[in-house]
Amino acid sequence: MRRIALLTSGGDAPGMNAAIRAVVRKAIYHGLEVIGVRRGFSGLIHGEFVEMNLSSVADIIHRGGTILRTARSEEFKTPAGRATAARNLRERGIEGLIVIGGDGSFRGATLLSQEHGINVIGIPATIDNDIPCTDYSIGFDTAVNNVVDAINKIRDTATSHERTYVIEVMGRRSGFIALEAGLAGGAESILIPEIPYDLDEVCAKLIRGHKRGKLHSIIIVAEGAASGLEIGRIIREKTGFETRVTILGHLQRGGTPTAFDRTIGSRMGARAVELLMAGESNKMVGIVHGEIVTVDINFALEQQRTIDRDLYELASILAI
Ligand code: F6P
Repeated sequence: MRRIALLTSGGDAPGMNAAIRAVVRKAIYHGLEVIGVRRGFSGLIHGEFVEMNLSSVADIIHRGGTILRTARSEEFKTPAGRATAARNLRERGIEGLIVIGGDGSFRGATLLSQEHGINVIGIPATIDNDIPCTDYSIGFDTAVNNVVDAINKIRDTATSHERTYVIEVMGRRSGFIALEAGLAGGAESILIPEIPYDLDEVCAKLIRGHKRGKLHSIIIVAEGAASGLEIGRIIREKTGFETRVTILGHLQRGGTPTAFDRTIGSRMGARAVELLMAGESNKMVGIVHGEIVTVDINFALEQQRTIDRDLYELASILAI
């Protein structure tokens, strides 16, 4: 193998730059040429290729976002789009592709491999942390810390005004961000799509807390469970408490990546290069119990990443 390419795809995630840096430097260390593809699969189709060298990845390890830019490509979902992408890779003598992104990106990558024989390796990167077969995806830890930071700030004003706050967080169809940030932020209730909730019980808990003299309450709502605005309205109606709603939105996805996200980005990036050099394809790297692992992408995509019910239980016991 002489030349490989890499791209970032789907929603950006803090720590993607650390992974890009690791791929480029590890590949160059082993004498490979590295091509960066801008704007994800869309750039693969439209020929947005840039040669990467040691200095293209200097001074990026601490930056959020992705220097390669990212996109969600509809065109790549079509067989014609993938055929063009494969042709572009072949014409440039590129023998392997590393895709840094979420499950949608992995689905695209695996099709490229199956239909056109391109060797692909996936690196999980999404703040949602919903990719099976890995304990962590790049970006999740930073997003959780961003949410906890926001909860801390909201607590100050919530206490001053003795209000109830509903905070809606991202996660698409999953509640991993909500659960972890809710536990770390000391939320009274955490609403996630994976576990049914009873709003009467949520309100009863708020009233009990109020009677005990609690100055404020924080309810975390995962976007996949309900609309924060709607939950705020219902709580206001049922309890009569002054309630405010904050939708954190894309604030959660930006900012400097945590040391954890930079470390796993670096480790996963390096392993992805090793896999391509060993002739592997259709694999994703992951981290399980602190060890970097390799998993078949198709197998991973068939699995379901389940929520930690013990953690959920603990969060609700501690917020009694
Ligand atoms: O998948 C990451 C994510 O941030 C989700 O949590 C969220 O639902 C979605 O992307 C938002 O997508 P966009 O940035 O395209 O609005």
